[in-house]
Amino acid sequence: MSPIITLDAARWEAPLAPAAAAAATRDLEAGNVLFLPQLKFALAAEEQRFLSPQWLARGAKNVSYDPRSSTLAHTSADGADREQLSAMIARYASHAQQLILNLCPHYGQHLKYGLTSFRPVETRGRETSRKKDDTRLHVDAFASRPNQGLRILRVFSNINPRNEPRVWEIGEPFDAMAGKFAARVPPQVPGSAWLLEKLGITKGRRSAYDHVMLNLHDKAKLDDGYQQATPRTHFEFPAQTTWLVFTDRVMHAALAGQFLLEQTFYLPVAAMQDERYAPLRILEQIYRRRLA
Ligand code: SIN
Ligand code: FE
Repeated sequence: MSPIITLDAARWEAPLAPAAAAAATRDLEAGNVLFLPQLKFALAAEEQRFLSPQWLARGAKNVSYDPRSSTLAHTSADGADREQLSAMIARYASHAQQLILNLCPHYGQHLKYGLTSFRPVETRGRETSRKKDDTRLHVDAFASRPNQGLRILRVFSNINPRNEPRVWEIGEPFDAMAGKFAARVPPQVPGSAWLLEKLGITKGRRSAYDHVMLNLHDKAKLDDGYQQATPRTHFEFPAQTTWLVFTDRVMHAALAGQFLLEQTFYLPVAAMQDERYAPLRILEQIYRRRLA
């Protein structure tokens, strides 16, 4: 069965009937990508100029925005440019939140904003280490931002002006991947989580869950045999479309594409419609202990 489920929503703020919202939430939680081919993030005429890598700060790969503090980072823009770029990304953040609240009304005030990012660089052929290489299949886990089991839900919009798709691969189900790599995750060194936090390497304490997730991310990316042989679905998200996915559960890789907006949200496991789908719960079954 394809992990891509198409919805015909064409507006950011159109509520679904309760049964349709419950079905969309179930599909999302169960590890599918919800694809909205009719939902585009429209740029105003004067915003078209931001479709260029020139607005990135030197060495940065994304412009980032924090909707909680309304701060823009990793950009070379200043003055009026900076304000307009910031307003464009802020508008995306608010549309993305509205969208999730319509599709998954049940998440309500439990849904917390993470960062917004604008990715103006072509993904194909970008030089990075294997661990940072998002063209390799992985689940998301953040080395410096432990999340103690919170779910990572992301909304993506391809805003490419030349009609170029964002090319993804979706890998095997989380349970299958975790079953292969869990035994290879080394025990967390006692005191290491405390030290990482103390040294400012992590923002907050790395839980057993964070340790396992980071290892699953790294082990899968570093395993060339796995990357070559694991089954996958190839999918091209056309320009001017939107999709959302729990990227801590769904194995994904971005092979090509330029100009993307992305909004990250965090959701407590307890706020899910069915928490058995949470990586935290699946991993607790595998390891037979509490992880967060
Ligand atoms: C990723 O989350 O791995 C990358 C997604 C993208 O840039 O399309
Ligand atoms: Fe990722």
